[in-house]
Amino acid sequence: MNCTIRPLTPDDEPFLWEMLYQAIHVPDGHAPISRDVLHLPELARYLRGWGREGDCGFLAAVGQPVGAVWLRLLVGEERGYGYVAEDTPELSIALLPEFRGRGIGTQLLTRLFASPCGDSPISLSVSADDPAVRLYRRLGFEVVGESGGSLTMVRDRGR
Ligand SMILES: CC(C)(COP(=O)(O)OP(=O)(O)OC[C@H]1O[C@@H](n2cnc3c(N)ncnc32)[C@H](O)[C@@H]1OP(=O)(O)O)[C@@H](O)C(=O)NCCC(=O)NCCS
Repeated sequence: MNCTIRPLTPDDEPFLWEMLYQAIHVPDGHAPISRDVLHLPELARYLRGWGREGDCGFLAAVGQPVGAVWLRLLVGEERGYGYVAEDTPELSIALLPEFRGRGIGTQLLTRLFASPCGDSPISLSVSADDPAVRLYRRLGFEVVGESGGSLTMVRDRGR
């Protein structure tokens, strides 16, 4: 699908909160979860104060914003679900539901990996039953850990 991709700016934070919500995997047949979960510190840390040093990402638009991918270093007491090392940022990605499965996620990830911030190791956490696992494998991520139904994956380019 034809979309435009541009770097994220601090002004994109409101849209990214919606993307963080959309990134939460809800297994088929399960009821949607409340947006209140975004207040949980373990989720909010992926975005709060977007635009700090090291934050990096891209937004996809089809006329209007439809998806985003972003990296943030989450270390120390702020460790994220996909923590592997103090110098490895974690990746988040999501699209609005009606724009999934049409190649936009692949375009976002490819653009990120071609940018300077894609030139070092990147980690993520994903539910083992999320179809995104196949996409991540195809684009060079490998499983490095498993816990409670989630996989930790790392793309080790640049090290
Ligand atoms: C994951 C996501 C960003 C991928 O973007 P996309 O544009 O749908 O992906 P593409 O069309 O480029 O590639 C298709 C691949 O995405 C994966 N995928 C993940 N969720 C999908 C969905 N709902 N529909 C279709 N494909 C999906 C599949 O692995 C598919 O690979 P396949 O063709 O081998 O089956 C997007 O589907 C999404 O927002 N999913 C829900 C949020 C999510 O799971 N985020 C990841 C949390 S770790």
